[in-house]
Amino acid sequence: MVTGGTGYIGSHTVCELIGQGYQVVIVDNLSNSERFIVDRIEQITGTRPAFYEFDLKDAAKVDELFDKEPDIKGVIHFAASKAVGESVKIPLTYYRNNLTSLINLLESMSRHGVQNIVFSSSCTVYGQPDKLPVDESAPIKPAESPYGYTKQVCENILRDTIKSEGGNLHGIALRYFNPIGAHPSGLIGELPRGVPNNLMPFITQTAYGIRQQLSVFGDDYNTPDGSCIRDYIHVVDLAKAHIAAIDRMIGGKNKVDFEVFNIGTGNGYSVLEVIKSFEKVSGVKLNYKITGRREGDIEQIWADTTIANNELGWKAQLSIDDMTLSAWKWEQNYRKG
Ligand code: UD1
Repeated sequence: MVTGGTGYIGSHTVCELIGQGYQVVIVDNLSNSERFIVDRIEQITGTRPAFYEFDLKDAAKVDELFDKEPDIKGVIHFAASKAVGESVKIPLTYYRNNLTSLINLLESMSRHGVQNIVFSSSCTVYGQPDKLPVDESAPIKPAESPYGYTKQVCENILRDTIKSEGGNLHGIALRYFNPIGAHPSGLIGELPRGVPNNLMPFITQTAYGIRQQLSVFGDDYNTPDGSCIRDYIHVVDLAKAHIAAIDRMIGGKNKVDFEVFNIGTGNGYSVLEVIKSFEKVSGVKLNYKITGRREGDIEQIWADTTIANNELGWKAQLSIDDMTLSAWKWEQNYRKG
């Protein structure tokens, strides 16, 4: 079962799961994704996943789903609100949505004997780390936003619940760094509603002429070119990490009942380096200007992925150019219709 399976990371993960022979059930309320993504998944994989449209805040519906689909062996839980700025404006919506959905899922999984869950966490739990690259033992810093706080709390909800289940529930939290890029088919990709908050869709929309100009939020950070550094990871590589995580639990290879892994490439790129890569692969000169810093941004972060590499047997393969080129291909395909 993939919650949020029509979303950006969810849809790529569904394709990889089907490619690996899994039968997939998607649950999504379409609050930030489109129904046609199910058709695109079928086009890519040749298999149409089961699709249920409902909201995970509705506990009765969650129970009904597990009753109807008794063969579910594991849950990959993507469905959540994820806009940092919005979460500051409507914190209660974020707390209600992100926490209630997870709680309903865990209660229903327990009632139905479903024993494995992968949770979408984020490197945001580290704040600005004291040491780079950051590994999983780094302290969790006070969250910068309600969104970030929901990720911390959800990790704790999982940890406590798994402990209380005494071996009947296994969980893996994947702490994503910055997913960008799109499926090589150009059929699915990031599809933000309204003005994008994140860098990559803002770049591709600006290049396509939908936005006038990209603002680069600050060039006075303590980094080589002054712009912020992130560990950008290709969404297809990220999707594959979920298969490794679910395989690990279903195969009984997890070492403890709750595990946490960093999912990044281990490389940091600055905003200006991402722009350079995009301009190189697309041949488009991007209209951008340096503006002031964005509130709440951390200066730099990239992952130590040693534990994920060794334990999951997974490693990111695709380069920054693969990421920017596939994002551009998706933007063009999508706009052409
Ligand atoms: C943020 C969250 C992350 C969350 C992700 C998904 C934090 C610290 N990070 O990542 O947890 O999972 O969003 O929504 O809360 N930038 C520009 N111009 C733009 C947009 C972005 O210069 O128009 C810069 C930002 O300053 C940043 C980089 O690009 O340095 C990446 O920004 P973004 O894509 O928004 O991701 P994060 O803020 O790193």
